[in-house]
Amino acid sequence: MKSKKTRITRRNFLKSASTAGLLLPFSSSVLAKIAGQRNKLVIPALNEGVRKGDQVTFNLKIKTGDTEFFKGMNTPTLGINQSYLGSVLRAKRGDTVNINVNNQLSRISTLHWHGMTLPAKMDGGPHQEIKPGETWNSRFEIRQGASTLWYHSHALHQTAPQVYYGLAGLFIIDDEPSLNASLPKTYGIDDIPCTIQDRRFNRDGTLTYNTSMPDRMMGMQGSTILVNGVVDPTLHAKSTLLRLRLHNGSNARTYHLAFNDKRSFHVIASECGFLNQPFETNQLRLAPAERAEILVDVSDKKQIMLKSLASSGGGMGMMPMMRMMNSSNEMDILLIDARNAKSSKYQIPKTLPKSVAHPDPRQAVTTRKFELEMGMMGRGGMMRSGGGMFRINGKSMNKNRIDFQVKRNTTEIWEISNASPMAHPFHVHNVQFKVLDRNGKRPNPSETGLKDTVLVGSRETVRIVMDFPEYSDAKVPYMYHCHILEHEDQGMMGQFVVV
Ligand code: C2O
Ligand code: CU
Ligand code: CU
Repeated sequence: MKSKKTRITRRNFLKSASTAGLLLPFSSSVLAKIAGQRNKLVIPALNEGVRKGDQVTFNLKIKTGDTEFFKGMNTPTLGINQSYLGSVLRAKRGDTVNINVNNQLSRISTLHWHGMTLPAKMDGGPHQEIKPGETWNSRFEIRQGASTLWYHSHALHQTAPQVYYGLAGLFIIDDEPSLNASLPKTYGIDDIPCTIQDRRFNRDGTLTYNTSMPDRMMGMQGSTILVNGVVDPTLHAKSTLLRLRLHNGSNARTYHLAFNDKRSFHVIASECGFLNQPFETNQLRLAPAERAEILVDVSDKKQIMLKSLASSGGGMGMMPMMRMMNSSNEMDILLIDARNAKSSKYQIPKTLPKSVAHPDPRQAVTTRKFELEMGMMGRGGMMRSGGGMFRINGKSMNKNRIDFQVKRNTTEIWEISNASPMAHPFHVHNVQFKVLDRNGKRPNPSETGLKDTVLVGSRETVRIVMDFPEYSDAKVPYMYHCHILEHEDQGMMGQFVVV
């Protein structure tokens, strides 16, 4: 009975993974030599649901699986309708999606629609737990513009390991302007989803998770890069103009993306929609949970490597050990082999589709302040008693505490400051925001579109403005939190209700 045997193995895999730190982690290059070659980038299956007019039904199953990241080695993983990660869901503005999520794990899980505007009880956060064997139904109308959203587990204190083992996928929203735009848009051909993750593997191919104090403090980082679950991936480009939907699906690592030949590319979208116009650059920072769409011209038909450049981690003043752990080395992300690319009929556009109006700071009815804190020290360097290591405004997440109320259909400015020694990607549920400034200075052009996650550097204050939609529910809250998932799980999260 093969299935019985594997079930026992799978049941214990989270536990065994945490003791597996005794085994030396292997770097991807060593394992790649075992594999002996690069691997073809997998394009995740597209799931457009079952459509009846504008009603679209998706059936998702959260389950365990075995994934062959390295030839001949099975890695116990988690996935949604597949062994690792999930298919790319796709729907259109104006659709009503009806998503059934069945949990086949032996523990509680959830699926959260990250970046989506929706009623709080449909959000898939910590309050919408799905017990083992049960099915949760989430139903909402898609009211926002074209964008690359994602979905992932949001189980309280369990988000980080569940996402690390595979519970995440992309959710693409189309609208009329995006479908009619003169942009590469053939899925898997010239429109390529790229979920970038870093993982740490043991010699036997199993994943290691959270084995040390730095893993808990800095968040879990690994030396092996996966794109769409593939180690050492190569994209064999079919077109000379590629649209990459870059998604940082990592628990904690921020990437500084650039090509090995320093070629420029055009950023056309941030998390929740198109920029006002394409922004040409040769480097892009992508923090956990952030997404960006870029256009890459490969008409010179070369082989180019998308890399993450080494960085100091950004203002690590106080703790040398943390600085050491956080300073990322240069890493290879994705090899693009354009030698057989066919001429694209598209060019870099001058303008981009206008999907939705942006929030206007002059309409703001209030400014709220958020202070991100980690470690034993609180505001002003005072030693804190209790409250946990990771806090927002001095408090660790408590499921039974609503931190504040927001009035529906209003605009607010949030001012997020970070006195801690490391950067934190701050995320708000249910809204798409605009970054007003960083320490009083205008944001980088790549950050001028609608966003749902913003990196707040050490000793930085970032102001964002957002419209709260009409959905209200005095009982069920939305979350705001750091998207370094280990920080979220350890308390750097709060809750608000919209009334
Ligand atoms: Cu990506 Cu609260 O989530
Ligand atoms: Cu979210
Ligand atoms: Cu954080």
